[in-house]
Amino acid sequence: MDHYVITGGTRLEGVVPISGSKNAALAIVAAAMVLDGPCRIDNLPEVRDINLLLEICQSIGATIEFEKPGTVFIDATTINTHEATEPIVSSLRGSYYLMGALLGRFGKAKTSMPGGCNFGNRPIDLHLKGFAALGASSDVTYGHVNLECSKLKGGSVFLDQVSVGATVNIMLAACKAEGLTVIDNAAREPHIVDLANFLNTMGADIRGAGTDVIRINGKATLPANKDYMIIPDQIEAGTYMMLAPLTRGDITVTNVIPKHMEPLTAKLLEMGSTVEEGEDSIRVIHDASTPLVGTSFKTMPYPGYPTDLQPQATCLLCFAEGGGRMIENVWENRYQFVDDLKKMGASILISGRLAVVQKAVLTGASVKANDLRAGAAMVMAGLMALGETRVFDIIRIERGYEKFIEKLKGIGAKIERESVLVP
Ligand code: UD1
Repeated sequence: MDHYVITGGTRLEGVVPISGSKNAALAIVAAAMVLDGPCRIDNLPEVRDINLLLEICQSIGATIEFEKPGTVFIDATTINTHEATEPIVSSLRGSYYLMGALLGRFGKAKTSMPGGCNFGNRPIDLHLKGFAALGASSDVTYGHVNLECSKLKGGSVFLDQVSVGATVNIMLAACKAEGLTVIDNAAREPHIVDLANFLNTMGADIRGAGTDVIRINGKATLPANKDYMIIPDQIEAGTYMMLAPLTRGDITVTNVIPKHMEPLTAKLLEMGSTVEEGEDSIRVIHDASTPLVGTSFKTMPYPGYPTDLQPQATCLLCFAEGGGRMIENVWENRYQFVDDLKKMGASILISGRLAVVQKAVLTGASVKANDLRAGAAMVMAGLMALGETRVFDIIRIERGYEKFIEKLKGIGAKIERESVLVP
């Protein structure tokens, strides 16, 4: 079992190139399964979640060929089944997009219930409500979701809670349904817009992505035969941006869309960092003489502060003058990593969705990556803790951060991967 060994206390400085968005890539690879012709996808991050999804797509017959790192050719016309029920399907949360994709392609789908990050109840009721509005009945038996309909027809869906996954899944099915589908209270995340742009490039007619009302005019055929480049990863970029205030460093993230980073940029300015935006880069500077000022965060659907940058910000507050407060509005149980931060000396009080953080001196300890973003937060804590920190369960971090160690080392971090042989 590999783990990271981190020696804390180094100021980080330099440039970090940001990879393609993992969450956009999951939606877009699934969307490729609906198409009636081949496509080429560029800027695909090389991370475990994406490799797993590609493997699942291959297992149902899709043709997948890597032309070079980050560029994949996909032809879904060779898919030979509407069933994706192999055990690996349930190991990947993002595999739930195959429900919408296969329903759009075949008018029926059978998939395993999805797995994924462990931070609370992860229902799919809104996904099923959306499919029902398009005429599909659903049942969940023996760990499988079965979807069926006589004819997929456009319909109106109101999401009573903003859900990225339900918005994506409804878009995937609706782009092949007969007639107009309207999604009300849709998610507005950058990857929803990216998915709409991808599908429109391939022949779909989707309008309003990025607002809370999305209109999809279904098409009988999506001819595809086009190339598409995935947007940069907002969460990866945010994680590296926070290393500047954390280590009183000077970090430039490149290949980013600065607009997507505004919810974080606003917070870093409040905390005393200097932020310089370029056309597709952001430099964050926090010199040693400037105090790191505590503040309050509240996670919200986009354009609010993202929940996927919550553990990292909670960690940052441990080092801020006066500490700060975090309110986690999206996931009910996303503070499990706090116990590991406490092992390192953090002073954090949790009450429901509220975390009250006080400044503390953190010291190295053996901790685990409870989930993908919590794992990044543990590494951040290790980078500023006194002494040596060991982070276990790093497979969870590598689900979503491409070349994590290499990128950190590139800006001066003292981090190594070590293997321990289990007898
Ligand atoms: C996606 C992201 C995840 C991020 C989350 C919120 C991907 C692959 N994952 O997850 O990293 O943390 O958005 O930004 O893009 N809900 C329901 N019923 C449903 C679906 C969701 O009640 O049918 C609730 C959830 O319990 C949660 C909230 O809606 O409280 C938001 O969930 P959702 O936006 O659906 O998250 P995911 O799409 O699974």
